[in-house]
Amino acid sequence: MSSMVEIEGLTKKFGPIIAVDDMTFSVDCGEALCFLGPNGAGKSTAMKMITGFLPPTAGSVTVCGYDIMHHPIEAKRRIGYLPEGAPLYGDMTPLSLLHFVSKIRRLSREQRKRGIEFAIECLHLQNVLHQTIETLSKGYKRRVGLAQAIVHDPDILILDEPTDGLDPNQKHEVRTLLRQMASDKVIIISTHILEEVDEVSNRVIIIAKGRIVADQTPIQLEEQSRFHNAVGIRIPTERIEHCEALLNGIGEVCAVETAIQPSGLSELMAFPTHGCEILDSVRAVINHEGLETAEIFVERGRLDDVFRDLTIGAAQPQQMSALSENH
Ligand SMILES: Nc1ncnc2c1ncn2[C@@H]1O[C@H](COP(=O)(O)OP(=O)(O)OP(=O)(O)O)[C@@H](O)[C@H]1O
Ligand SMILES: [Mg+2]
Repeated sequence: MSSMVEIEGLTKKFGPIIAVDDMTFSVDCGEALCFLGPNGAGKSTAMKMITGFLPPTAGSVTVCGYDIMHHPIEAKRRIGYLPEGAPLYGDMTPLSLLHFVSKIRRLSREQRKRGIEFAIECLHLQNVLHQTIETLSKGYKRRVGLAQAIVHDPDILILDEPTDGLDPNQKHEVRTLLRQMASDKVIIISTHILEEVDEVSNRVIIIAKGRIVADQTPIQLEEQSRFHNAVGIRIPTERIEHCEALLNGIGEVCAVETAIQPSGLSELMAFPTHGCEILDSVRAVINHEGLETAEIFVERGRLDDVFRDLTIGAAQPQQMSALSENH
């Protein structure tokens, strides 16, 4: 059976700029896919093409078997889209907007009632239902944008930075909502917030300069980090040199980094060769020496580290060459 969303050779050029460069991937029901990439990588442009708001220069998008350019109504019926910055009709109220959106989506009276109630409840819009959208705070505007994206209970949700501008409580609620909805939908979100990747998605596509540079689960990405299986030790600062020497003596440890803290407790990080497990060896030498530590912990890996490795080289060659010309 074909996937719910199929992207083939998707490309967008704006004059000399190649915003999206030959992307091919498919997404199945139950997948919560996160687009991750630096500013200008092409995430929003890809989303605009997937939702049919922008025609591609080349390539195709198929949604539930319908080509988005050739059968836009059938395809868009199945999509809920929160665009970047959530442009909304400022002179409408959240309630009138939700009625308007469910009418143009041709929902039945019953579907409309259920959908609007569900969206209002999920996004906690009860207190602002009759206030004009232009007078709402940034976070509430974002919530209204999310509400209009889910009002028709779409199979596919495409959300461009859905938690942008939300306070920490709302961020948490929206992430919980996305996790709840993910089981029987396709969800594609874009974000810069790395903690969101772990919380919301089960698949990550990293984009740099319009190209896909990684397509993996968050865990697989973390495993590529040099911090994967690294062991951290918090220890009184006066014992740090002794501890560092012990760690450097372990065969599977390829590097030890120290961070001296003014608080009196400092941190050492022992990095394993090829990501192997070193906790037992670390404990053994520490116990053997009777060295007292405040804490020993194992790192899973750091997404920010992998993100930097995968995107910096790809994203900034022009800036680098401009710098070297100037010096
Ligand atoms: N309408 C347009 N005309 C010309 N260039 C555009 C247009 N829209 C986007 N671009 C360019 O395409 C590239 C990708 O932009 P896009 O907005 O897709 O990036 P993004 O990954 O969403 O970035 P951000 O994280 O900042 O939201 C950028 O270089 C941008 O300047
Ligand atoms: Mg964007």
